Amino acid sequence: MKSRIAALAAALIATAASAQAPKLKVGLMLPYSGTYAALGTAIENGFRLYLAEQGGRIAGREIEFSKVDDESEPAKAVDNVNKLIKRDNVDVLVGTVHSGVAMAMAKAAKDNGTLLIIPNAGAVAVTGPMCAENIFRSSFSNWQPGYAMGEVAAKRGARKVVTITWKYAAGDESVGGFKEAFEKSGGQVVKELSLPFPNVEFQPLLTEIAAIKPDAVYTFFAGGGAVKFVKDYAAAGLKNTIPLYGAGFLTDGTLEAQGADADGLLTTLHYGDGLDNAKDKTFRAAYAKAYGMPPDAYAVQGYDAAQMLAIGLNATKGDVSRKSDFAKAIVAAKIDSPRGVFTIGANHNPVQDMYLRQVLGKDNKVIGVASKSLADPGRGCKM
Ligand code: BEZ
Repeated sequence: MKSRIAALAAALIATAASAQAPKLKVGLMLPYSGTYAALGTAIENGFRLYLAEQGGRIAGREIEFSKVDDESEPAKAVDNVNKLIKRDNVDVLVGTVHSGVAMAMAKAAKDNGTLLIIPNAGAVAVTGPMCAENIFRSSFSNWQPGYAMGEVAAKRGARKVVTITWKYAAGDESVGGFKEAFEKSGGQVVKELSLPFPNVEFQPLLTEIAAIKPDAVYTFFAGGGAVKFVKDYAAAGLKNTIPLYGAGFLTDGTLEAQGADADGLLTTLHYGDGLDNAKDKTFRAAYAKAYGMPPDAYAVQGYDAAQMLAIGLNATKGDVSRKSDFAKAIVAAKIDSPRGVFTIGANHNPVQDMYLRQVLGKDNKVIGVASKSLADPGRGCKM
């Protein structure tokens, strides 16, 4: 009887204590419209799934959300991020997908000292020259999947390659990573084609590719643009004559819409279907139950952004102002992700395996590891 009363009293004290802890305000800045809309939704779904698994609280603090649709529009990024920092007084920023928007967020986070976790955008500068104690990424740098595919393309015997992408940081850096590895291995990028984001008038560029007749094509496209590119590549009759290699965004979250036109495509990314780890199996079942669809890489990045927040908050007892302790905890952690365990490098970017995937029906089936424990070089980062 005595011990039951003691347990009840302890439970009441714990409830009262956590009820008093102020809510933690998380500002979600993601695209909910435009070509990257589905990516933003998957990231939020993943983030909320982890939170639900923790009973809606991290380090005793209930989480409250403010949301902004950034439309993947760099010109609106400063206004949008200030809505979260200055108007809503958020404790933590989580966003975004588009590299150009993320760079504006990183500058604002640095200037205001607000904690920022980037759940997608791979802008190299953010974990390079702009790196900071309070800025983290749960996803990848644009260089990483590109570099991994450069090695794969060379091993598969390609010698002359044409690249095609959107002309902005993500496309340029993805091609840059590819070119670095590919040319180191003796290959040559003979032409770099591009069009402005988010244009999808691919036809003239596909005609140019057909005329050049390279051994292969490397590409970065994502979201709605990736769907159209894969369909147009097949419709132009190129799929069966010139192998198409991509950073994994080309076929992630897009296979339903791409159908048979994506069959057999090879891509590199830090996540894929058919990984053999317990965490992924549990995650996939929980995600499918919650949202009625399988997760993709973006959902994993959202889930891991929430895990990273929890690691930092648990280490600082929920006090986001303890930035140095928050960062130390994240850099020391082994993060148990559905992608496999990964760590965060000194520049606050994931150090992780890059998988080689092949499209098989509705799956990006993992068929090997293209680069083991690949770290972004973090060029120009002085923490
Ligand atoms: C980026 O802008 O960094 C990006 C967007 C979509 C997928 C991958 C990267």
